Amino acid sequence: MSLARGLNRRSRRASLIGLVAVVVWAAWWFSRADDPSPWTETEIEILRSLWISSLPPLAPDPSNTVADDPRAAKLGQQLFFDQRLSGNGLIACATCHQPQRRFTDGRVKGQAIGTSKRNTPSIVGTAYSPWLYWDGRRDSLWSQALSPLEDPNEHNGTRMQYVRLIATDPGYRTAYEGLFGSIPDLSNRSRFPSVATPVGDSRSNTAWLAMTAEDRELVNKIFVNIGKSIAAYERLLMPGPSRFDAYVKAVLDRNVKAQQEMFNNDELMGLRLFIGKANCTQCHNGPLFTNYEFHNTGIISFPGEVPDKGRVAGVRSVRSNPFNCLSAYNDDSAKDCAELRFARNGPELIGAMRTPSLRNLEGTSPYMHKGQMATTAEILDHYNRAPLAMIGHNETKPLKLSRRELKQLETFLKSLAAPLVTPTKWLEPPANINARLVTLVGSAR
Ligand code: HEC
Ligand code: HEC
Repeated sequence: MSLARGLNRRSRRASLIGLVAVVVWAAWWFSRADDPSPWTETEIEILRSLWISSLPPLAPDPSNTVADDPRAAKLGQQLFFDQRLSGNGLIACATCHQPQRRFTDGRVKGQAIGTSKRNTPSIVGTAYSPWLYWDGRRDSLWSQALSPLEDPNEHNGTRMQYVRLIATDPGYRTAYEGLFGSIPDLSNRSRFPSVATPVGDSRSNTAWLAMTAEDRELVNKIFVNIGKSIAAYERLLMPGPSRFDAYVKAVLDRNVKAQQEMFNNDELMGLRLFIGKANCTQCHNGPLFTNYEFHNTGIISFPGEVPDKGRVAGVRSVRSNPFNCLSAYNDDSAKDCAELRFARNGPELIGAMRTPSLRNLEGTSPYMHKGQMATTAEILDHYNRAPLAMIGHNETKPLKLSRRELKQLETFLKSLAAPLVTPTKWLEPPANINARLVTLVGSAR
């Protein structure tokens, strides 16, 4: 009897355990009821295209013979952090492009001697872009680097001053001559006046025009090589693999457990929206989440500010830039320059900006070309409404997403955050460069 009762109790216990197991399983099943995995083959190919491992190695830059020379990158790093490259001795590229903020500054607009016209973008991964600046008004990293140096709101120095610094600082001179050959004698200050620069005030301009064409050419060559060294440095700043990339790897490996470890349900749904209903990959595609193209997305200007013409003005500017691809400063004798020759500038590009990468969102607020938006939630609300553009035509349509869906998209965007793959020695001021900068760049908004 007691044996039978014992067995009975045991079987009852077993069925209870069975019931509990079924309930737990059902709870698990329903919790993932809106998990639409597995992905279709087409979707898997889209995920693969967004994966950081799909990023091809950076193509060589024949317009810059030192583009991949580590000695040039080292010189470029010093120049990038050196405040002597400015009119007042206080501004370096790193004043606005701060490594600890993913090479941005946390401000609405760049702030140095004056205020920049736009928001400071991250330069991580920018070496992949055929166009530089929000409006693409430069067509190489090296020609871009020259503009802030003479911009009255940014470094506000003179071309001759920079070239003289390279010629007189023993460290710079040695590094420079090792890369580009000997620097001619520039010590005659009436022949090479320090105020001389073509984009300065009338005094600097007059001094520049008073120099002989040969002397101006001499100065231009050294100035351009400053840009080429800085570009060699910037080519090293690259984003690293994020949790999203680990998730894609798990999808490609068909490893369900790893997929669940990497992404929760909201992130998964957010990704599904990103490549699906929300249509973000129309523009934010490829492993850096940008098509490098120009689009008008109806971003509103600040009250009182004239709407930004964007790409239409950028095309004009790059075509007339004396350091563009077609100039004599391009080291590539073939000078194909198809990008520049055939750059579109139709009415659809009025108010259009270059699509930014979405791998640099963490710590780089405020966002958009004028820093109009502080949070990704604000950005998603903007895309959801798709307001009329103040200038040109907003290409996007209202998305009609629910609040929950917007939250899921926002959660997904966070999964793209990751440290740079660039070794840390490149992410700090070189030892011999003014330590003052570190305190300067520390201050926020
Ligand atoms: C006063 C702040 C400031 C300083 C100093 C500054 N920049 Fe910038 N930088 C900006 C702003 C603002 C933009 C965007 C301007 C625009 O698009 O019109 C920008 C854009 C860029 C871009 C284009 C990035 C992209 O993705 O298109 C690069 C590269 C860059 N800067 C490098 C440099 C270098 C190199 C220096 C030093 C020689 C420098 N910057 C100095 C504020 C600054
Ligand atoms: C038609 C092309 C296009 C589509 C579609 C699009 N974007 Fe953008 N995105 C852009 C452009 C261009 C900018 C910069 C706009 C500006 O500053 O004027 C931008 C800016 C952003 C920024 C700010 C990045 C920064 O560093 O400032 C985020 C975040 C963003 N988009 C996310 C998304 C998401 C999420 C979607 C889908 C809901 C989406 N975008 C759809 C082109 C697009």
